Amino acid sequence: MNYQWYPGHMTKARRAMQEDIKLIDLIIELVDARMPLSSRNPDIDELGKNKSRLVLLNKADLADPAANRAWCSWFEAQGIYVLEINAKSGAGLKAISGKVQEACKEKIERDRKRGILNRPVRAMVAGIPNVGKSTFINSFAGKAVTKTGNKPGVTKGKQWIRLNKSLELLDTPGILWPKFDDQSVGMKLAFIGSMNDEILVKEELALDLIAFLQKQYPALLPERYGIEAGSDLAVLEAISDSRKCYKKGGEADLEKASALLLDDFRNGRLGRISLERP
Ligand code: G4P
Repeated sequence: MNYQWYPGHMTKARRAMQEDIKLIDLIIELVDARMPLSSRNPDIDELGKNKSRLVLLNKADLADPAANRAWCSWFEAQGIYVLEINAKSGAGLKAISGKVQEACKEKIERDRKRGILNRPVRAMVAGIPNVGKSTFINSFAGKAVTKTGNKPGVTKGKQWIRLNKSLELLDTPGILWPKFDDQSVGMKLAFIGSMNDEILVKEELALDLIAFLQKQYPALLPERYGIEAGSDLAVLEAISDSRKCYKKGGEADLEKASALLLDDFRNGRLGRISLERP
């Protein structure tokens, strides 16, 4: 299957990011904990140079806990501040303000030397589509939604959410585009549902997922569906049998079984699975 990202989206997203980045001190970059590299666009390093950075491994609840820990160490080893979070439940959000202060300590120190006290850190949330940016802004900002708009020198219409006296968040997230250095990145994005399913052949995608799971998490499919290991196609047929996905004439409805498998995976019903490790 050929996975694609429409280039028009990319130019527009880059331009919007470039404008917003001028207004902020810190980029809070959301990635998907199940695939932190494939769900991030490294162009952000160039776009956000001279800015403080914090990476949030979101959807940590769906990812393998051991892999989450390994990824945290990996980012820390590169001098990048990082936290595991679940934007949906709010788990991990409490630690963010402290990390922001740490990530921005140089700016805060610079301000202090110039006699500027208590100027809040201004931050923006950024990430590729579907990593949970809106969910994060909603649960992180939560009740604190004292919006302050149209500050002098700030583009008209930009809204800031004042979280506390030391942190303000731009209320619209920066959208990065996924980066396809190789097709395996596209495949993983498709697994987690970050590609338009309409243009994908569900069956092929399901077979790719089965191949990955049989190799990396061999116990999960047999456990979930009460089936045995086999060729990828045999496993898909067995899932179809196990969940009674049949067409009118009684033959296996592999498309339905594929949709069911992908849905189970995306909602964490197969277990906590990471698609990449450092
Ligand atoms: P975006 O702005 O970056 O595009 O992402 P958005 O917040 O719309 O989130 C995309 C999907 O990811 C949503 O699911 C959202 O609920 C889910 N999500 C966000 N953060 C987390 C998390 O930490 N853990 C889990 N398990 N899911 C998360 P959806 O299917 O589009 O909607 P719904 O099922 O919540 O109704």
